[in-house]
Amino acid sequence: MQHSKKMSKGTALVTGGAVRLGKIFCASLANAGYDLAIHYNSSFEQAAVTAEEFRDKGVNCETFQFDFSKKNDVSDLITNVRKQFPDLNVLINSASVYDQATIMETPELILERQFKVNFQAPYLLTQAFAQQCKTGNVINIIDNKIAFNQYQYSAYVLSKKSLAEFTRLAAVELAPDVRVNAIAPGVVLPASVRSQDYIDWRIDGIPLKHQGETDNIAQALLYLLSNEFVCGQILFVDGGESLTNTGQNSANHE
Ligand SMILES: NC(=O)c1ccc[n+]([C@@H]2O[C@H](COP(=O)([O-])OP(=O)(O)OC[C@H]3O[C@@H](n4cnc5c(N)ncnc54)[C@H](OP(=O)(O)O)[C@@H]3O)[C@@H](O)[C@H]2O)c1
Repeated sequence: MQHSKKMSKGTALVTGGAVRLGKIFCASLANAGYDLAIHYNSSFEQAAVTAEEFRDKGVNCETFQFDFSKKNDVSDLITNVRKQFPDLNVLINSASVYDQATIMETPELILERQFKVNFQAPYLLTQAFAQQCKTGNVINIIDNKIAFNQYQYSAYVLSKKSLAEFTRLAAVELAPDVRVNAIAPGVVLPASVRSQDYIDWRIDGIPLKHQGETDNIAQALLYLLSNEFVCGQILFVDGGESLTNTGQNSANHE
C-alpha cells in the first residue's frame, strides 16, 4: 500500500483510532486513499506505534490526544486537526466507554462519563465538523445493543440509543452538505475480559451463527462513505442478532 498526497481523497479523523476497531477503520480508510488524523486518549504508545506503521506504508498521518470525559472544548480537536489537515472531510466517531451497571447500580459519575464520551463528544464533534469543514461525511459507531433493553449496561445502552437518534436528526439538519450515517456492530471484537463461554453464548443467539470479522465492519464503513444516496441510516452489521428478541443481547450472561 503506497500513498502519495496527490492521490489523497482528503483526511479522515477517527476517534479512538489507535487500537482495536478504530485502528481497523484507520487501515481501511488509508487503503481507500485518505490521510489519517488518529485520535487517542490514554493509548499514547499504541497511537505512536499505529501512526508509525501507517507512515511506513506511505500514509500521511498524525496523532491527536483528547480526553472527552473532561470539561474541554471538544471543537478544539477539529480545529487542531484542520491546522495540519485543512482537507479534513471524514469524521468517524468510534471512541467509547463501556461500563456494566444497571440503573440501580449506576452512580452519577458513570452516567456522566458514558454520556460525555459516547454521546456529547460525537454530537459536539459533528457540530464543529459541519461548522469548520462545511462538507463531508460523519459516521457514528453505535452498537447493536440499541435494539434491546439490556438494562445491565443501562448508561452505555442509553448513550448509544441517543447517538442513534442523533444520527437521524443530524442527517436531516446537515444535509445536503454533510452526510451522517452510523454502523451498529454486533459481536466482532469482544473486550479482552470476555470469556469464550460468553462469546459462544452470544453466537448461539445470532441467526447467522458466527462471530463477525473486523473486515465486515470495515466494509460497512466504506459502503456508507461511497454510497452518496444513503443518509441517516444505521447499518446493523451483526449477523441478524438484532432481528430476534431471543438474541442473547436481550439478556445478561450471568
Ligand atoms: N468491539 C466490538 O465488537 C463492538 C461491538 C459493538 C459496538 N462497538 C463499538 O465500536 C466502537 C469501537 O469499539 P472497540 O471495541 O474497538 O472500542 P474500545 O476498545 O472500547 O476502545 C474505544 C476507544 O475509545 C477511546 N476512549 C475511551 N475513553 C475515552 C475518553 N475519555 N476520551 C477519548 N477517547 C476515549 C479509547 O482511547 P484510548 O485507548 O486512547 O484511551 C479507545 O481507543 C465503539 O464505539 C464501540 O461501542 C464495538
